[in-house]
Amino acid sequence: MKKVILDIDTGIDDALALLLAFKSGELDILGITTVSGNVSLDQATLNTKKVLTLLGLDNKVQIFKGADRPLLRQPVYEHEVHGNDGLGGALKDMQVSMPEDDGAVDFIIEQAEKHKGELTLIPTAPLTNIALAIRKKPEITKWIKEMVIMGGSVKSLGNITPLAEFNSYVDPEAAKIVFYSGIPITLVGLDVTTKALLTDEHVAQLEGSDVGNFVKDSTAHYINDFYKKNGIKACALHDPLAVGVTLDKSLVKTEKFFVDVETKSELCDGQTVCDFHNKLGKEPNIDVCLEVDHEKFIRMFIDYLKR
Ligand code: BDR
Ligand code: CA
Repeated sequence: MKKVILDIDTGIDDALALLLAFKSGELDILGITTVSGNVSLDQATLNTKKVLTLLGLDNKVQIFKGADRPLLRQPVYEHEVHGNDGLGGALKDMQVSMPEDDGAVDFIIEQAEKHKGELTLIPTAPLTNIALAIRKKPEITKWIKEMVIMGGSVKSLGNITPLAEFNSYVDPEAAKIVFYSGIPITLVGLDVTTKALLTDEHVAQLEGSDVGNFVKDSTAHYINDFYKKNGIKACALHDPLAVGVTLDKSLVKTEKFFVDVETKSELCDGQTVCDFHNKLGKEPNIDVCLEVDHEKFIRMFIDYLKR
């Protein structure tokens, strides 16, 4: 089983990514690290605990809190999509009693050293924790086997500004450190995640169990928001697709390019720039997902969540 750490800013699709990761039974999840992103660090941590409690995994999985803000910038939250609490109001009355630790960055470093050449990171959030870990212990760039990152957009437009995807927009300096780190990266960006659509019919197929009811309650808001913008009763499974790609690389077609992140532009900060024609003459650093078998992925998502 792949040894993984999920680095997460638990909003709605992060919660669905956690469900897929745990319900798959095919990942050795060493721990979860949380970070400021869709919601504040504390809210993301609380939401993570709620999802683990829903799964009956409270006190069985370690949670480590990380950065409460981006490296250099002010936090930007995404309440419009994820609701005030980040879970679209689902599980609002759930009480949790799970411990947490503050040391996300040290946990990542410690696990990278302990499992040299074996650890996969799955960041579905701004890359602040990962960048801090690389800064603190540069050797981890040789120890981490790979990262499957939900972030960026290479041919598509942005979803928070005209050209930037949310995770890379919130902490572009962190994304730059990670992209230049030399760690093998698969980038699961909007080009593919916006094709991985969970429709209201799919949601109905899951109804009946606690997990299925959570999917229904949490996505109602997300689907509504997507519907307002795109006229389709569905929501994009951004973060679950990163977990899906970790489980099965054949879900996507990738190609290796040099990819950088804009950090010095009023209009374009956070834009991921992919050098398709190698105009910069730099060594390719990222396997970029260009196509996805979205039907296969949605089947995987539904089948695993029904387990
Ligand atoms: C990403 O931004 C967040 O709002 C989602 O959780 C996902 O990680 C999509 O751009
Ligand atoms: Ca996320």
